[in-house]
Order: sequence, then structure tokens, then C-alpha cells
Amino acid sequence: MNLNSNAGIQFPEGFLWGAATAAFQVEGASTQDGRKDSVWDTFARVPGAVLGGDNGDVACDQYNLYKNDVALMKSLNLDAYRFSISWARVRPDAVSGPEGVNQLGVDYYSRLVDELLENDIKPWVTLFHWDHPAALEDNGGWANRDSAYRFTEYALTMHDALADRVNIWTTLNEPWCSSFLSYGAGVHAPGKLSYPDALAAAHHQMLGHGLVTQELRKRQPEANLGITLNFTVADPVDPSNPMDVDAARRIDGQFNRVFTDPILLGQYPEDLFTDLAGAGLGGVLESNIQDGDLEIISTPIDTLGVNYYHGEEVSYRDYPDAVDGSAPVARTTQSPFPAAEGVKVRNRGLPMTDQNWEIQPEGLTRLLTRLQKDYTGPKGIAMYITENGCAFDDVADENGYVDDQNRLSFYDSHLRAVKDAIDAGVDVRGYFAWSLLDNYEWAWGYSKRFGIVGVDFETQERTVKASGLWYAQVAKDNAVPA
Ligand code: NOJ
Repeated sequence: MNLNSNAGIQFPEGFLWGAATAAFQVEGASTQDGRKDSVWDTFARVPGAVLGGDNGDVACDQYNLYKNDVALMKSLNLDAYRFSISWARVRPDAVSGPEGVNQLGVDYYSRLVDELLENDIKPWVTLFHWDHPAALEDNGGWANRDSAYRFTEYALTMHDALADRVNIWTTLNEPWCSSFLSYGAGVHAPGKLSYPDALAAAHHQMLGHGLVTQELRKRQPEANLGITLNFTVADPVDPSNPMDVDAARRIDGQFNRVFTDPILLGQYPEDLFTDLAGAGLGGVLESNIQDGDLEIISTPIDTLGVNYYHGEEVSYRDYPDAVDGSAPVARTTQSPFPAAEGVKVRNRGLPMTDQNWEIQPEGLTRLLTRLQKDYTGPKGIAMYITENGCAFDDVADENGYVDDQNRLSFYDSHLRAVKDAIDAGVDVRGYFAWSLLDNYEWAWGYSKRFGIVGVDFETQERTVKASGLWYAQVAKDNAVPA
């Protein structure tokens, strides 16, 4: 008799079930215990930069409520919690040396790690999730090569403090956002509109990633080291139209391969240099690359973290119903793609989340299969889905409960897509829902809710949504119900 016949869609034994957040989005406590401004604190004060002028001063107050939140994770049967460390809490003035360390900030993460371990929840640490100290930005931020070395110093401060209890380290989260959206498009902090700065920032973040990976490998050879990238699956509207195919290639190059190729293959894609030159940016990226950088950047990793939200169908043609999934901010912005002028995203009629992001689970199967074939498989690198989730306009009942069947079915369909990839032989070892809590969704402020747990931002009360209850059962059974 097959005992598993009613067990639903079973995941491999040991599959890691988690939820993710980021420091700026949940911690609040923006001036507590010596924390100073990060670029997101200063950016949120710029008129028109963030919807509703929302800031991260309080957010979910996880800095003070972490014990409560860890208990919540426990009740959701989570194996792991992916959180990030606020650089601005640890080295608030971006000053080098031991005198630059804010010990109270370091201690918070130590307490959080202890609390997780006491509850049998694995701490999965991300070192940079976009909130570098404002003081570092005064010096050019990531456009300045020196930031790669400052990042390494900060990372080692945290490694000294936590390595006795933490063995999973992610260097960067979604460097595409913290370079191209942040220094090129102007929609994320620090809100710059400079393609040369965006290209420099991307290179310097990858350099920081490589330097930290080298150092951590020496200090903790058994640690699981990795980086989290966000990907899009860009399909040509018409695969037989060369212009559409070219549009998809450019988006793939400037979104995905600009990071995967240097980090996993040790070289920038040639077509990226050509596209940039065609857009008047010839030699600009190259001017940041020094001898030996690509060897550092391609230091072997153990894990590729995959963040997936949606795909897109692209073309040079004009579409009246073209999709714009960016926050409608009252401020000058531009395309995050330095060399894809004229590329449009077509609305192909798929259901969408409340951010106008297409719901396209099948894209995730294709993405994972491609990543394994082109990048991770030959090197034996494991993949984890470090983020996947959706924003919907939740309606809470009188008890604060949200019956979010839309979010639940998003998770259901994407987990099936992950399982399809696993069945096709792709090495995916875990999945993190984004997000544990409703939180500060960057330029969208608090207007977009991603949590599997709802947050009442007036009272800080947390209420597990229907999707959270469902996910807890999935984590417990290691299976998605049939
Ligand atoms: C990716 C980012 O890492 C996270 O901070 C953000 O909230 C989600 N995407 C949703 O946009």
C-alpha cells in the first residue's frame, strides 16, 4: 500500500521551509540603541519618493517584538528565517575600525539568533538588503569602489559576532535593485538617475560579494555561502520577430546575465558591452573593472538564492495596455535599463497581483531549469527560492483575519512549479515565502501587503492569514495538498 497516496505533492526529504523579511522593512526602531540613518531613511524624507511619504521609523517594530515574531514562526512550523542585518545599525557612521562598531546594534542580532535557535529555527543571514548607512552614501555609496571594502569590513564584524551560531550567509540581496533601480532609475534609495553610477554600483556590489565570500570561506570553510539574485523571464512577444527576440535578449542581459555571468562564469556577457556602447555608454562599465576583479567576483559559492515574482513579454512595438509594475511615485524617474530604450512590456492577459505583476508560475519552472543548465548544475551549486510571494489588497474581518485565497493559490501554483523543476532534475533545496509579515514595500510604502501574517500597523497586532495557515501545514507535511 502506498502510504503517501493522499499526502499531496511531496517535496524531497529535508526540503527547507522558511519565510523571509529584510531589516529596513520590518525592524523599525530607527533611532534606537545607536542606529543612524540608512539611505532608505533619508530617501523616504524626499518629497514624492515613497507613496504616502511612508518611512521605516516603526515598520513592524520587529526590533522590539522579535520574540513574539519568532514564536509566530514556530507556530507556522518554519524550519528557517531569512532576515537581513542593517549595516546602519552596526556601523552607523560608516567609520572604519573597531571604533566604528555600534555594539548595541550587533547585540540585537545576537539575541535574535539565540531566540531562533532556541526555537529550532535556522537563521539565514543576508548581509546587505539595500540599507547601507547614509554616511557611506555621502562618500558616493556603491558608485565608489571603496564601498566594497567597507562592506567587507562590516560583514566581518557580523561574522565575528555570529559565526559560532550561524552557518548560512547571503552576501547581497537583489543587487539589480540596489544598483539599477537605485542609482539608474531613481526609484529606490539613494534615488540617483545616473547610468554610469548604476553600472559602477553593480560592479562594486559584486566585488563586495566576492571579497566577503573569500573571507568567510577562509574563516568558516563549512559555511553555506551564497548570493540572492532576482530574475525575470523575458519572453519575446513574437518569437519569430527578430526585434522582439532582441528586446528579450537585452532585458535578459541587463536584468539577469549582468550578474549571473560575472558571479558564476567569471566574465561579463559580451552583448552587454555591445548594447551599452550602442546606447552611448561604451567603456563606462569597463572603466570600473580592475585586474583580478572577475576572479574575486567569481569566487565559488555553495548556494544561489533565487527570487522570483513574475515574468514579462517584451517587444519594441507599442502596446496601449503595456504593463507598468513600478510604484507610481511623484518624482522624476527613468528606465532601469541603460541600453533597452524603447522596449515595452506587453500585457498578455494573465491574472495580476495588486502591483500589476503577472502571475506566471510556469516561468519559475523554466527559470530554474535554465539556471541549472547554464550556471549552477556544472558547478554543483544548490538553489533555494529565497523569495516568492505576492501583494494583494487584503480585507480583514472584525478579528483582523484575512481569508486570502488569492495569495494561497499564488503559493500553491508556484510551489507546484518548483516541484516540476525538481522532478525535472533541478537541485532546489528550499523555499522562503515573501513575506512573513506585511511590511514596508519600499517605494510603495505600506500600501502593498505581502505577508502570510497580517499586521495592523496601528497596534502592531499580528494575525495569521489563510495563506499562513495553509503554508504552516505545507511546512509540516513537507507537501502541498493535492
Ligand atoms: C524583493 C525584495 O528583496 C523585497 O525586499 C521586496 O519586498 C520584494 N521583492 C517584493 O517586492
